[in-house]
Amino acid sequence: MTGHPPLSHPPLRIGMIGLGVISRFHLAALERSPHAVLTAVCDRDPGTYDALPAHIARYDDHRELLRDENVDAVVVNVPNDAHPAVCHDALRAGRAVCVEKPLAVDAVDARRLTRYAQQQGLPLFTSFHRRYNAPVRALLDRLPQDNPVVALTVRYEEMIEEHAGRDTWYLDPARCGGGCLADNGPNALDLVRLVLGDDLRVDEAVLRRDPHGVDRAARLRLTAPTTGATAHVELDWSYPGERKTLRLRLADGQLLTADMLDGHPEFKGSLWHEYVGVLDDFVRTVRGEAPRTGPAPDGLAVAELVAECYARATDADAEAGADADADPHAQEVPA
Ligand SMILES: NC(=O)c1ccc[n+]([C@@H]2O[C@H](COP(=O)([O-])OP(=O)(O)OC[C@H]3O[C@@H](n4cnc5c(N)ncnc54)[C@H](O)[C@@H]3O)[C@@H](O)[C@H]2O)c1
Repeated sequence: MTGHPPLSHPPLRIGMIGLGVISRFHLAALERSPHAVLTAVCDRDPGTYDALPAHIARYDDHRELLRDENVDAVVVNVPNDAHPAVCHDALRAGRAVCVEKPLAVDAVDARRLTRYAQQQGLPLFTSFHRRYNAPVRALLDRLPQDNPVVALTVRYEEMIEEHAGRDTWYLDPARCGGGCLADNGPNALDLVRLVLGDDLRVDEAVLRRDPHGVDRAARLRLTAPTTGATAHVELDWSYPGERKTLRLRLADGQLLTADMLDGHPEFKGSLWHEYVGVLDDFVRTVRGEAPRTGPAPDGLAVAELVAECYARATDADAEAGADADADPHAQEVPA
């Protein structure tokens, strides 16, 4: 990654809360950054921090970490349902927050948290890591000014069991927020907002749930009312393998595609560079500088979109029964 923020500030001292699957990408980014340094960690499971250097302070309760004077800011990597309480405590303790997506599984909590951060005058930065993906950046950087995007498709497909850690919270709708829409939807919808802007209407949300009530697949259709551009989001938690793409159709009919996993054959390989971007933009935000990725990540706006999708969701099986001949992908950017 080129172009770190200027070295005019002392490194931001980071406390990391939650040391599960995703934390190693944040930790690796911290090791490479001249602008931030890990000073403390916290996990309910002490076994998770055994391998860290001895000088890093260790806590098993985040409120103890928040009393550590060597922590300026926190990275929150706990399960989705625990984000609001931990972020609220961190903001109350005067710490800038970088929280994993989703900001909160409930839009009401996301609103409260955002308002509280504003009252406290502290950054509440949501980690939407796909906006830092190199093929996505390359695609967005080469978009012509005079040939607007008229349609986009984001595909976000994986086998969730391969991505989950030891805990089973991903497959508990109350803890993850519902399923793939709550959990992967935010990264996909952040890309939609990045390309089409923040004025978006949800036209359709079709979910396929398993017998435990977990949404294992979702098909979303959105429109940007001012331009008429459309977005299709395809989420799948039962896909054998992994496929994550962003495809754009321009006004002149050109199709442009970013394969987010391109060049990273190893499992989760693309996340190493994406989390360098997350940390870089978080540090910039704390320093009061503009993020590198255009409009700042907006965890609340994305939480509102997810809530809107759930509110108007229909059931995939019911829809298939009602109109077996309909082609749900007819409007989508052609594959
Ligand atoms: N796994 C991924 O590929 C991935 C990708 C992007 C974002 N995320 C997001 O990152 C967050 C963490 O996901 P994960 O996959 O690392 O989960 P995980 O289950 O692997 O890890 C969560 C960790 O948090 C700890 N923990 C739980 N409650 C805690 C608390 N109150 N205080 C301190 N520690 C606590 C657990 O002991 C565990 O070690 C989630 O919000 C998830 O949506 C995960």
